[in-house]
Amino acid sequence: MKHLTLTCPVAELTDDELSPDDRELIRRAREATDNSYAPYSRFRVGAAVRLADGTIICGANQENAAFPSGLCAERTALFYAHASNPRTPAATLAVAARDEQGFTPLPVTPCGSCRQVMAELQKASGRPLRVLLHGTKCNWLIEDARHLLPLAFDL
Ligand code: THU
Repeated sequence: MKHLTLTCPVAELTDDELSPDDRELIRRAREATDNSYAPYSRFRVGAAVRLADGTIICGANQENAAFPSGLCAERTALFYAHASNPRTPAATLAVAARDEQGFTPLPVTPCGSCRQVMAELQKASGRPLRVLLHGTKCNWLIEDARHLLPLAFDL
């Protein structure tokens, strides 16, 4: 029998260690939490996608009384980015979240469905999608979205 070990390399960075571009993207993700519609969870998530040409597109979680009808901030931003710029690859996705206490100390980590969408969009674009997860204590950078979902479903 052979055992496989699947790993997800994560770089932990302070705000000072971020590049100016990444710092700007986190600022936009934090700002995007203002556009969250989260009357049920009161957990406001913002996402900002930087495209390969430098365009930044933002999204926020959108909830609904029929719970499964809502959508996470990551997919709101990624689908909007791809629907409006289908030929321009997404380069980096930043995510930030806050509750009534403020922005989360630790980075918020994307759900499985968002990881699946990231993996497929990255594959279709032919270039790695960087994922930058923000917390007030530290930021986590994953250089390749496919590392977030080992053994992702793939046709
Ligand atoms: N949520 C996101 O938008 N992104 C995540 O990474 C985690 C969870 C949303 C879904 C729901 O509106 C609220 O946060 C609470 O789960």
